[in-house]
Parts: sequence; structure tokens; C-alpha cells
Amino acid sequence: MRDTGLVLRPATDSDAGTVRDIAWRSWATAYGPFVPEDDRRVFFDEFYGHEGHRRAVRSERSLFLVAEDRGAPVAFVLAAHARGRVHLHRLYADPGRWRHGAGQALWDALVAWSRRRGAERIEFEVATEGDSGPRFYRKQGCTPVRERVMPVGGTPVRVTVYEYRLTAPS
Ligand SMILES: CC(C)(COP(=O)(O)OP(=O)(O)OC[C@H]1O[C@@H](n2cnc3c(N)ncnc32)[C@H](O)[C@@H]1OP(=O)(O)O)[C@@H](O)C(=O)NCCC(=O)NCCS
Repeated sequence: MRDTGLVLRPATDSDAGTVRDIAWRSWATAYGPFVPEDDRRVFFDEFYGHEGHRRAVRSERSLFLVAEDRGAPVAFVLAAHARGRVHLHRLYADPGRWRHGAGQALWDALVAWSRRRGAERIEFEVATEGDSGPRFYRKQGCTPVRERVMPVGGTPVRVTVYEYRLTAPS
């Protein structure tokens, strides 16, 4: 871990607002140039509600971690394991703290957790036009598999499906 002040801990119910804020700021910086604020708000109102957060915190098949730097939350990861695969739902760092190692620490924890659960691969989607996301995942050795279009509010957003193999292909 590059930043020695970083601590990873499980997310709790009271992290709902914090996690949403980190994701919101991350989206504004990464996707603001091609997803208008109104459309981002529609998406967040649908997918960042308190009830969904509480379910994710309690899910036995999910990994939900918050990275703190000297007590301040700076990034989080949410992923779920099903049928041999781990789906990475969210990995966001506060833009004020990008390139400080929190994303890497959470990714490493995700890979270790996925291996312990015996998963074969990690799968996820990243906005193709984003910059930090695609660069980060290429650094991790993830492979782009295909592209699709996902509506965010009224904006069609191109997303790339990636996979990261935890076992060598046979
Ligand atoms: C992707 C993201 C989570 C990375 O978080 P982070 O805390 O900045 O990542 P780290 O500091 O641990 O970076 C680890 C390595 O990834 C690579 N990397 C990360 N961001 C990069 C960028 N903008 N440009 C080039 N390389 C980058 C670097 O190799 C970096 O190591 P280095 O800084 O020592 O060179 C963060 O940029 C983010 O929230 N992006 C916007 C949203 C997004 O695309 N999230 C993924 C959707 S699931």
C-alpha cells in the first residue's frame, strides 16, 4: 500500500451518504464532460438509495469496503460473487485523492477476496470515454471484452465490459 495512512474497513449503514458523495464527485470529474448533471442525478436517485445500501452492507456474497485516510473516507469498493464470477459493481475514489493508492488498495483486496471465494474471474463495466478508469484497469491487467451502450438518464453512454482472470485459461 503506497499511502501508509490508508485503512480498509467494511462499509456500515452510516456510510450511505459518504459513499454516495464519493461516487457523485468521482462521476462529476470522470463523466461530467459527457453525462449531464441531470442525467447523473436520475441515475444516483435510482441506484444510491439507503435501502440498497443497507442490503449491500448485509449481503453475505458481497464485498463492501471503505478506504479511509487518517479517519476520512476517500474511496470504496462494492462487488458481489455469483456462479464462479465476481461482479465489480463500484470502485470509486474521491477525485481530490486520485493517484494516492486507495484504488489500488481496494482492487488488491477485491482480488484477494475473490480468490479466497474460489471465483474464476472478476467482471465489470467502465465508461469507455472515461480516462482514469480505463487506465487504472489496464494497469491491473484487465482485458476489454466488448462494448455496449447503457442509458444514464437520457444519455446513452458507451461502456466497455472488462474481465480479470483469477485462474489461468485452460
Ligand atoms: C479508477 C479509480 C478508482 C482509481 O483510483 P485511485 O485511487 O486514483 O487509483 P490509484 O492511485 O491506486 O492508482 C493505481 C494505479 O492505476 C493507474 N492509474 C490510476 N489512475 C490513472 C490515470 N488517471 N492515468 C493513468 N494511470 C492511472 C496508475 O498506474 C496508478 O499507479 P501510479 O499512480 O503509481 O502510477 C479512480 O480514478 C476513479 O474513481 N475514477 C473514476 C471512476 C471510474 O472510472 N471508476 C471505475 C468504475 S467501476
